[in-house]
Order: sequence, then C-alpha cells, then structure tokens
Amino acid sequence: MSGTSAMLRTDSPAPEGRPGAGAPARRAPAVSAEGLGKTVRTSAGDELEILRDVDLEIAAGDTLAIVGASGSGKSTLLGLLAGLDTPSTGTVCLGGVDITALDEEGRARLRASRVGFVFQSFQLLGSLTAHENVMLPLELAGIATARERAADVLGRVGLGARLGHYPRQLSGGEQQRVAIARAFAAEPEVLFADEPTGNLDGRTGEAVSELLFTMNRERGTTLVVVTHDLRLADHCARAIELEDGQIRSG
Ligand SMILES: Nc1ncnc2c1ncn2[C@@H]1O[C@H](COP(=O)(O)OP(=O)(O)O)[C@@H](O)[C@H]1O
Ligand SMILES: [Mg+2]
Repeated sequence: MSGTSAMLRTDSPAPEGRPGAGAPARRAPAVSAEGLGKTVRTSAGDELEILRDVDLEIAAGDTLAIVGASGSGKSTLLGLLAGLDTPSTGTVCLGGVDITALDEEGRARLRASRVGFVFQSFQLLGSLTAHENVMLPLELAGIATARERAADVLGRVGLGARLGHYPRQLSGGEQQRVAIARAFAAEPEVLFADEPTGNLDGRTGEAVSELLFTMNRERGTTLVVVTHDLRLADHCARAIELEDGQIRSG
C-alpha cells in the first residue's frame, strides 16, 4: 500500500515521462502498453493465447478506435489497458504509472481516480436509480458533492428528468447514457468504452457517439473505443485493427 501511494504521489499532479539524459521532458502518454499478452487456460485444460505482443501508445487527449472481427481480442485488450484484468506478459502504463506493478487494491484506486469504463452491457445496478448508479463511484472516491455532481452529469446527457428511474424503466439508449454519465462523472483522464453504440439503434448510437466526442473536446478526456461502428471509428483520430490477438500492421 505504501509503495502504491508513493508511486501515485510521484506521478501526480503532473505526470512526466522518463526522459534520458539531455532529452526534453515530455508528458507521459495517457496509456501505453508494451509486449502485452494474455494467455488463458480453457476449461478443456489447453492454453489459449488471446493476445500477443501488443505495443501501443495513446497520447493524452487522443481518440483511438480498436476494431477487428469478433473474437479478435478487443475486449480483452481494453480490459487490460484499463487495469480491469492482468496480462500474462508485458506492461501497461496509465499516465506514466505502471499498473502491472500494482496489486488489485492499487489498481482499483488508480482506476477510481483516472479511468472511466463503459461496458457493452451497461452493467448498471438494477436496484439503484439512475442517480444512485452515477453517485456510487463518486461516493466511493470520497467526493463530498457526489449527489449534486451526479445530477449535473445526468442533466448533461439529457436525463435530468430521469434521475429517479431504475434501469428497467429506461430504454437501451437511456441506460447507455447513464453508463456514460457514470464513467464520466469522476472526470477520468481516460475513458474506455466497449462497443458503446453496439446495442443501440442508429440514431441513438449517433447521439451517444456525439456525447463521447463532445466530452473529449470539452475536457480533453482521452478516448479508447472498441467498436464495430464504422462511423464511430472514423470519428476517432486513430484506429488499430486486431487480428487473432495481434495488431494488424498497415
Ligand atoms: N477467460 C477466457 N477463457 C477462455 N477464452 C477466452 C476468455 N476470455 C476471452 N476468451 C476468448 O478469447 C478470444 C477474444 O475474446 P474477446 O477479447 O472478448 O474478443 P472480442 O472483444 O474482439 O470479440 C475469444 O475467442 C474468446 O472466446
Ligand atoms: Mg468484445
């Protein structure tokens, strides 16, 4: 624990790269991965390599789309980059902090302060209202104005009149907007979104996509989006394609 907080302190508030002698100081990338790999053991007992040798660097404020066929490893990569999962090989740095060197508690703390994640399946808590779903991570992060801030962010995604609604009382697009509000409320440096428009009709998908890019523009939030949606991918400054767990070159 002391090691973790020391690392966090060293790197904040102004994360710097590790310049070599004489090299100009440069801001650490928002996200970087080196030699990233993930191998799992299947229920049949075989080893399955899901991700291999992924190198990646995403500058602060950048927008990156991760595309590729179903099963190519996109969700696995996103989970590793966000610190939700641990790699079999390689390292991931968030804002210059090597998260692969942290324990689960350290990663959880770093996620809470720097990372927002929008799951494809929303993952809202059914027993909590929209307002409470957005408030919860803010309260866990110790933010005193959680209630007001959650209401404000929900207002900004057009759900000001739906604060007291439970997820089952909301449409798919509304639930996705709650999930995005929840991910954005703590003002993360990086927002990871796994097929955020995947479950939505075209028009709602467009509105959700617009919301993500507005927040990127207004707050400089780095955006890393897994998507099948070509319009969403085109909107990103950069795209990488995964093929069988590797970044396809060219
Ligand atoms: N825990 C796991 N155990 C076994 N296989 C897995 C596991 N997680 C993912 N996979 C497999 O790894 C491949 C990549 O999965 P995933 O990252 O979800 O792909 P994508 O998001 O691109 O569809 C898939 O073939 C999937 O079935
Ligand atoms: Mg996936």
